Amino acid sequence: MTNRTRLHISDEAIQHANETAKRIREQYGAGKRYIVESYGCQMNAHDSERLRGMLEIMGYAPTDNKNEADFIIFNTCCVREHAEKRVFGNVGALKKLKDEKPSLIVGVCGCMMQQKAVSDRLYKRFPFVDLIFGTNELHEFPQMFEKVLMGERIKRVQDLEGEIPEGLPASRTSTLSTNVVVMYGCDNFCSYCIVPYVRGRERSREISDIIDEVKQLAKQGYKEITLLGQNVNSYKSADGHDFADILYALNDCEGIRRIRFMTSHPKDLSEKLIDAMTNLDHVCNHIHLPVQSGSDRILKLMNRKYTSAHYMHLVDELRKRVKDIEITTDIIVGFPTETDEDFEATLDIVKRAEFSAAFTFKYSPRTGTAAAKMDGQIAEAVKKQRLKILNECCAEATKKSNEKYIGTIGEVFVEGMDARDIPLGYGRLGNFKTVYFPTDRDLTGQFVNVKITGIKNSSLFGELI
Ligand code: 5AD
Ligand code: SF4
Repeated sequence: MTNRTRLHISDEAIQHANETAKRIREQYGAGKRYIVESYGCQMNAHDSERLRGMLEIMGYAPTDNKNEADFIIFNTCCVREHAEKRVFGNVGALKKLKDEKPSLIVGVCGCMMQQKAVSDRLYKRFPFVDLIFGTNELHEFPQMFEKVLMGERIKRVQDLEGEIPEGLPASRTSTLSTNVVVMYGCDNFCSYCIVPYVRGRERSREISDIIDEVKQLAKQGYKEITLLGQNVNSYKSADGHDFADILYALNDCEGIRRIRFMTSHPKDLSEKLIDAMTNLDHVCNHIHLPVQSGSDRILKLMNRKYTSAHYMHLVDELRKRVKDIEITTDIIVGFPTETDEDFEATLDIVKRAEFSAAFTFKYSPRTGTAAAKMDGQIAEAVKKQRLKILNECCAEATKKSNEKYIGTIGEVFVEGMDARDIPLGYGRLGNFKTVYFPTDRDLTGQFVNVKITGIKNSSLFGELI
């Protein structure tokens, strides 16, 4: 077999990984347990599923109990600073366990390790960590792990060459709904963001590989998929397909009832994508469209390449054309030089856009990014105060967005049961709203109609009909 495109990791390399994993199973795997502790975004969560997939081929079984684990690995994130502090704390806390059980293997991988200064620091500070690797070495995990099992200590963080791993196994955490990566990396260089430095340049999978993966998942019984990429709107395959083409191709995939996607960048949201959302019955009426700020001056400093007016134009178009669409977003407060007036503009856009939900963050300087070097860094106390006000404003928007559903009937894909007081089923509407409803029967995995009667915290509450 040969490389299908220049971007693919060779089929031979993937085969080598799978063969090594099987060899480990025969020699070392019996009765072994693992923990993969995952931080950060959906993309990282999917990398963790790939790690689990390889570990399970090696014969390792999952456990939640650190005391019985033979291998513990942290798949790290470095998008915001507190994630980094937590990882150093959690790795350090394993020293005692490793002293008591020297055969325990400890690994750290992911975005944070891709920053060479940080992985060097971790390697020196925690000599009991056996294995460190970055975001570009996932497909070499079995080979590295085999060497560690033979007594080597390994740190391998390569420069990002931007390859695409096709054909690695994955052990997926849900059996109903799952993620499919359509593209890797990001070329946008928003001035606050570390992702382009740790995930490398944008590279898109071939549309045929994506379709094959989704068909395979449909056969396994998955009914909902989420297409993942840092900026799915800039998906471009080698043969010229764009992101909307993937949606058109997948809409007819038998068994897949709901197609979701994230994240969309406002600067690239095309008419064609809005058309696809309007026309395709299996594409969900939800979009995650990070606004980041409502101030044009801050948006410019963030290098976001759109204005608040353009953002609101998109919101209006989406609401006009996609029935019952809900919009969720990401917002940063306390970006360098942000004034009270800039912050007011952010509160204003939250009110106007009526976000269904917002993920809100205090700006966190990341070494190596443009914003970290800017004058006018904002005091922590100011960031904290702004975040509190923003969260209250977002909660008000969520409440308003929820109230419109009272008295309506919606289709819920049931994700599970919550049995704290009375038995409640819960799941989501197509537009991503979570709905709780009383039921004695476990309806997990089914689509049911629910009449919305009220609000439960930031979710909806209703009755089965
Ligand atoms: N500080 C705070 N928030 C950040 N995000 C990305 N980088 C930073 C940073 N340095 C937020 C953005 C992005 C989300 C995934 O994380 O809002 O959309
Ligand atoms: Fe980071 Fe901007 Fe790329 Fe999103 S689009 S991953 S915020 S650089």
